[in-house]
Amino acid sequence: MKDDTQTLIEVAQKAQAFSYSPYSGFKVGSALQADNNETYAGCNVENAAYPLGQCAEASAISAMIVAGGKKISKIVIASPIDKFCPPCGGCRQKIKEFSDSDTQIIMSDKNGRTKTLSIAELLPFAFELD
Ligand code: THU
Repeated sequence: MKDDTQTLIEVAQKAQAFSYSPYSGFKVGSALQADNNETYAGCNVENAAYPLGQCAEASAISAMIVAGGKKISKIVIASPIDKFCPPCGGCRQKIKEFSDSDTQIIMSDKNGRTKTLSIAELLPFAFELD
């Protein structure tokens, strides 16, 4: 039987097909499971004004928030290549906002290999207001 992580990886891989990445050609997909047990997907959305591009993780987080989710239980980042796509610095901070120490950040490469880290491992000594 497929576990929920495997399902999340497949959702993230499907999201890659919708990536709008004409400038980099680098199609990233993300899928997260929220505290409400729902799944939200995202892809990277680039822009001719390059800095305005949005990462796949940020898209998935926005989908969670607008649907009422509050916390990330697991988030997958699906890479289009043979190497993992670790979240960029800004996305680490965005993931942190909706994570706790149990949150799993799962990177998958194009072959479905995975590596799972916590937010403390990805973003030690993080900025927070409280
Ligand atoms: N990108 C993501 O969507 N997520 C990451 O974790 C790293 C990079 C996107 C941004 C840009 O559209 C493309 O990958 C190449 O940097």
